[in-house]
Amino acid sequence: MDKGDLSLDGDWCYNDSMEKILLTGGTGYIGSHTAVELIKKGYDVEILDNLFNSKITVLDDIAKITGKKPRFYQVDLLDEKGMEDVFRDGNYDMVIHFAGLKAVGESVEKPLKYYENNISGTINLLKCMKKYGVKKIVFSSSATVYGDQDGVRLTEEMQTGVGITNPYGQTKYMIEQILKDVALADREMQVTILRYFNPVGAHESGFLGENPNDIPNNLMPIIMKVSTGEIEKLMVYGDDYDTPDGTGMRDYIHVVDLAKGHVAAALKMKPGVYIYNLGTGKATSVLEMVKAFELASGEELPYTVTPRRAGDLAKIYANVEKAKNELGWVAELTVADAMRDTMKYLNYYSKKK
Ligand code: NAD
Ligand code: UFG
Repeated sequence: MDKGDLSLDGDWCYNDSMEKILLTGGTGYIGSHTAVELIKKGYDVEILDNLFNSKITVLDDIAKITGKKPRFYQVDLLDEKGMEDVFRDGNYDMVIHFAGLKAVGESVEKPLKYYENNISGTINLLKCMKKYGVKKIVFSSSATVYGDQDGVRLTEEMQTGVGITNPYGQTKYMIEQILKDVALADREMQVTILRYFNPVGAHESGFLGENPNDIPNNLMPIIMKVSTGEIEKLMVYGDDYDTPDGTGMRDYIHVVDLAKGHVAAALKMKPGVYIYNLGTGKATSVLEMVKAFELASGEELPYTVTPRRAGDLAKIYANVEKAKNELGWVAELTVADAMRDTMKYLNYYSKKK
């Protein structure tokens, strides 16, 4: 597609002099949406992924939206030689590091797999960045680093690393420490740590969305699979929490807002380590999520209430002032928007299968 074929909204700008960014894990859920937003802003985007939890066809879907298909390397972060090959001629200005394993339950069963993939993978990446002089990195961290602090609006200055109940969460905390140490040793390093709350939704075109290769354990992909009949019904994990309807509350952020948060971060990189929550500041309960999905789909979603899931907290939500004040970024889309876009993606995806 020619750039002129695109009906450009105010968001779009092509600028050939913009920076070159490598997205690790860029065919995944959050990475693919971020690729779209970066391409729209004129960045030169390349993607590295081992396709463990994503599909190569995502590249065509990115091209359908942006008119550009990013260069792709099917490489594992643990493959030192493969990584070296990517960096040798890469001339990257920045890395956005999404790649990682993220299934909380599986990480408890297979801790070494998670520590090796996420920690050793990140160390390999940082070694390549050092060798080839790449000084800027944005890292996908998580609200999980705040541990067991329940029901308070979480701010970036709060304690982290205490009460993390699973190896997945530990890897996020440990990588944050590694990045801080790397930046201490090299004062030219520019590190931005983004602590995501609960990403949901899909691209408004319906071409991109969450489509894990494995059995999901997060609320939204499970709701999607219940709606397609792949899972019989949703288990609502507990209705005896200290919340208005008794079910757990989370800060659900539309994935396109989250992706735009990365563009805002990329624009404001500077030497040192900067940490931002990316959330909406609002908490929504499991039953409110079910109702919102039913409204968007026009169908009833079968569910049953079961006992609480081990390790879950009642209410997790973000203070988002720092990202607003320093990055000039705020989430604009609602849970209803996320459900509408999820339905579009489900329709697109079911036709493609
Ligand atoms: P995802 O699984 O859709 O994407 C991650 C991608 O990384 C996948 O395409 C996978 O194939 C790739 N990958 C994994 N290990 C790799 C390796 N060793 N080498 C190369 N590629 C590898 O997940 P996502 O939801 O897009 O999450 C992206 C990042 O954000 C992850 O680091 C995740 O931990 C973090 N995060 C996600 C959430 C969430 O709820 N989705 C919340 C907080 C943080
Ligand atoms: N839930 C159900 N049934 C399900 C799945 C989830 O009732 O089948 C409930 C949970 O109890 C919780 C809410 O839906 O109240 C959200 O659960 P998720 O598993 O979707 O998300 P979590 O908040 O537990 O965890 C997510 C990511 C973590 C990340 C964390 C940050 O999975 O990686 O957000 O807050 F660390």
